Amino acid sequence: MISDWIQTSTHTVVFTGAGMSTESGLPDFRSANQGLWQQKDPSLVASVQALNDNVEEFIDFYRKRVLGVKEYEPHAGHQILAEWEKRSRIHSIITQNVDGFHQQAGSHKVAELHGTLQKVHCQACGMSYSSEDFLDGSYHCSCGGILRPSVVLFGEMLPEAPFEMAFAEASRAELFIVLGSSLSVTPANQFPLIAKEHGAKLVIVNQEATPLDGYADLVINNRQIGDVLDEWNRF
Ligand code: APR
Repeated sequence: MISDWIQTSTHTVVFTGAGMSTESGLPDFRSANQGLWQQKDPSLVASVQALNDNVEEFIDFYRKRVLGVKEYEPHAGHQILAEWEKRSRIHSIITQNVDGFHQQAGSHKVAELHGTLQKVHCQACGMSYSSEDFLDGSYHCSCGGILRPSVVLFGEMLPEAPFEMAFAEASRAELFIVLGSSLSVTPANQFPLIAKEHGAKLVIVNQEATPLDGYADLVINNRQIGDVLDEWNRF
């Protein structure tokens, strides 16, 4: 069934969450055993309020995450998706992830809904800085503002261009495959429904159940994404 869908679909879109990168060594957010939000309240470290009122903890949290994406790398599953883009087996990736691993693995058509840890800018004047500037020494801009990674913080709007690309891709998808997301954060979790409403087949591959499983044509739980992609790569 899934092999037919993948091989006959004229427009396949992949939607990834933090579960796509756990096999690279990066923690996800909500898994019972390893999720970041099981250890820390996101409003205290990943929100605009935290940046304003809790800056030391904010900077410490994000310096660790920026170091994490430098220390780890894309796994075979990221590479398979990049290969599938080359072979036009998939047409785009909508990702909630900020690690930049899809692009590092060779994917080009990627909508980063929640921004990226690969870039840093000043909260006050918007000037761009390298992640090295953020990691070493002061975290202040020459204008006096605070440096922060170019990720979407809780309380911020999503960047327009990736959002519009994701909407266009979900609307034209014939096959929409979710990989490694709890589908618990809006508006990102609306894209599988937009695809479904426009006639796409919806496949959800996730360790645990998600709130959208009832809308899916196929749900695969309790399997590692890397193994599933490796299996699908054989047909
Ligand atoms: N294989 C399959 N599923 C996995 C794997 C794996 N190797 N590793 C983790 N998972 C599953 C977990 O069971 C979990 O349900 O991936 C899901 C990841 O869900 P979350 O941790 O909630 O991550 P995500 O859905 O990407 O979160 C969305 O929330 O905090 C914000 O900005 C953050 O982009 C993030 C957003």
